[in-house]
Amino acid sequence: MSSNKGVAYIKPGVVEVQNIDYPKLALGDRKCNHGVILKVVSTNICGSDQHMVRGRTTAPEGLVLGHEITGEVIEAGRDVEFIKVGDLVSVPFNIACGRCRNCKEGKTGICLNVNPSRPGAAYGYVDMGGWVGGQAQYVMVPYADFNLLKFPDKDQAMEKIKDLTLLSDIFPTGYHGAVTAGVGPGSIVYVAGAGPVGLASAAACQLLGAACVIVGDMIQERLDQARSFGCETVDLRKDASLPEQIASIVGVPEVDAAVDCVGFEAHGHGHDAGHEHPATVLNSAMDVTRAGGAIGIPGLYVTDDPGAKDDKAKKGMLSIRIGLGWAKSHAFYTGQCPVMKYHRQLMQAILYDKIQIAKAVNVQVISLEDAPKGYKDFDQGAAKKFVLDPHGMVPA
Ligand SMILES: NC(=O)c1ccc[n+]([C@@H]2O[C@H](COP(=O)([O-])OP(=O)(O)OC[C@H]3O[C@@H](n4cnc5c(N)ncnc54)[C@H](O)[C@@H]3O)[C@@H](O)[C@H]2O)c1
Ligand SMILES: [Zn+2]
Ligand SMILES: [Zn+2]
Repeated sequence: MSSNKGVAYIKPGVVEVQNIDYPKLALGDRKCNHGVILKVVSTNICGSDQHMVRGRTTAPEGLVLGHEITGEVIEAGRDVEFIKVGDLVSVPFNIACGRCRNCKEGKTGICLNVNPSRPGAAYGYVDMGGWVGGQAQYVMVPYADFNLLKFPDKDQAMEKIKDLTLLSDIFPTGYHGAVTAGVGPGSIVYVAGAGPVGLASAAACQLLGAACVIVGDMIQERLDQARSFGCETVDLRKDASLPEQIASIVGVPEVDAAVDCVGFEAHGHGHDAGHEHPATVLNSAMDVTRAGGAIGIPGLYVTDDPGAKDDKAKKGMLSIRIGLGWAKSHAFYTGQCPVMKYHRQLMQAILYDKIQIAKAVNVQVISLEDAPKGYKDFDQGAAKKFVLDPHGMVPA
């Protein structure tokens, strides 16, 4: 029996690299002959993992983390027809069956067949179906023919692996935020949050032809990172309001489109910057987005937040000024990014050098053993996207 190691959530603030079971082509009693076993080449730490690790979800102790996975197929189940042993593949973080009504409509973030408790599933995530996470040496991927994106040339892919590793989540997610906010040539965009998703979204806005991308955060290092590839920035610790700061950049206190890359752990602005205000990004996005504009909301909102300040927020009920959004005829797009909708085109954009996404989000490759430190540094606001390299395969 082969061995395996993975990163497990232990308790708030603590993750640990543990010996875990070598994957089987099954999830409990559920047979997965449609699945493959991957040797994990790279697997990234995400802000979504941080919600769990900060104790802001109902994640159980021992949950093996990791939904951003790139790997090499080392075993294929009986029913896998087209993916082959040896293929180097990107795994969309959403698990999808390819057979249900939502999958057929391309809504793979809310597949109806992969999670008995609600639509939608992911690897290594609370309430997401119990699929084992891929911050590990080996992981099982179900419905492999449907889910996996095979890289056309392995050698070329390994050369660009730091970019391609972002196809499993944040590049498509940032792009989806931009697309659903209606970003196109000439757009003026506000991106809330300069974490990896916000930076990926800002780079995606540029790829889509935006005229001006304004990124807001309260961490200087992250704002500097946004400026490094041509974004304007607003520092939300300042007393000047967001509309005022936007006006000082583009002449009017308004943008065409806004993308929330923060989610429910949002902090207040100005003198309130040290305190949590879970609805603040949504409300400020409505404030600054033009009438008729759209707001993309990849930032995560939860149904249960044990760490929330008040009872309503504990159930995901927030004080959203929906009347303002209604008055301005705003469109809102929430939910998991359906990665499969975008990953092939974005792979080509990487392979043909149309975007430097690893540089934009400042990919930092570390070993699996260093994952606990990666989590800590990321939590403290490092302007880095940590990528774990469990087998030492990523070229320096
Ligand atoms: N929808 C999806 O499919 C999907 C996929 C991946 C990640 N996510 C979510 O996207 C969000 C961002 O992920 P990340 O990895 O970049 O996380 P992150 O925690 O690194 O980044 C969030 C950033 O927002 C900043 N911030 C806090 N309050 C703010 C405010 N009021 N205005 C502007 N910025 C503020 C923080 O300082 C931080 O830099 C998370 O909620 C994550 O769960 C969603
Ligand atoms: Zn993620
Ligand atoms: Zn499905």
